[in-house]
Amino acid sequence: MAASRTVRLATCCAQLAAAWLLTLSPLVAQSSRETGELFQDGKTARASSTAPANDTKTSIPPARQTYMGRRIARTMSYKGAPWLLRTEREKEEACSRMLQELRLEPGMVVCDLGCGNGFYTLRMADLVGRKGHVFAVDIQPQMLVLLRQRMETKGVTNVSPILGSIHDPRLPAQTVDLILLVDVYHEFSHPELMLQAMRRALKEDGVVALLEYRAEDPMVPIKPLHKMTKKQAIAEFSANGFRVRRQFDGLPWQHMLIFEKDPQWSPRSGSNR
Ligand SMILES: C[S@@+](CC[C@H](N)C(=O)[O-])C[C@H]1O[C@@H](n2cnc3c(N)ncnc32)[C@H](O)[C@@H]1O
Repeated sequence: MAASRTVRLATCCAQLAAAWLLTLSPLVAQSSRETGELFQDGKTARASSTAPANDTKTSIPPARQTYMGRRIARTMSYKGAPWLLRTEREKEEACSRMLQELRLEPGMVVCDLGCGNGFYTLRMADLVGRKGHVFAVDIQPQMLVLLRQRMETKGVTNVSPILGSIHDPRLPAQTVDLILLVDVYHEFSHPELMLQAMRRALKEDGVVALLEYRAEDPMVPIKPLHKMTKKQAIAEFSANGFRVRRQFDGLPWQHMLIFEKDPQWSPRSGSNR
């Protein structure tokens, strides 16, 4: 059984590597746009953005500006990647505590969706161990280059970097135990399609762990566009086939919501606002 799982994973990885090579050039060519800074004090410039433009040659729906009353933020540029590895992050976000709350176990197949330069990817790779696997998805090839460099330096072999698209993380179906979304969902220009794709990728009892800066808390020093309320997050996930399994309110700056598939949900009951 372990051998057949290894073969299945190896096949998935080979298919993903091929997809990655096929899709690299068009995505590199996508246009960029500027954003402002993330922090409220305006002192710490975090990023200018490279959000892929809409592809007019395919059937990809246009990028949303808003979803269910929330303004969608622009993508954080790879130029801001060092900020993701800042030493204060542990104090500001209690990253180790958050990882404990994921309840990862050796052998699990997990995904770091919107992985950036892999701050969490490598820590998850360690937690799921050699028998487990991490799919690390990002839409910026430059972020994946940085991730690969960090993987090589640390000798990590159980991670598959995947170049996703703005509406599809390109994950294998019904394979993943847990999808981690840290500070990325609020950037999705196609939230409904991304949530549908996540539902497909998850095993029946798989979960999505959503981490977003708390919009309800003015003491969290992040610009409002890069924060979300718990109410809004639950409304958006519920409209797309998820329900809250559990939540953890002990992090300094972020909400942590664990969603599972809602078996009562059908696509027609979803929201399309
Ligand atoms: C603010 S960074 C967070 C990175 C990482 N999760 C962390 O906490 O260190 C957001 C990342 O999500 C990526 N991203 C944005 N939209 C995405 C999408 N539709 N699919 C995959 N990645 C996406 C961006 O390119 C960026 O690298």
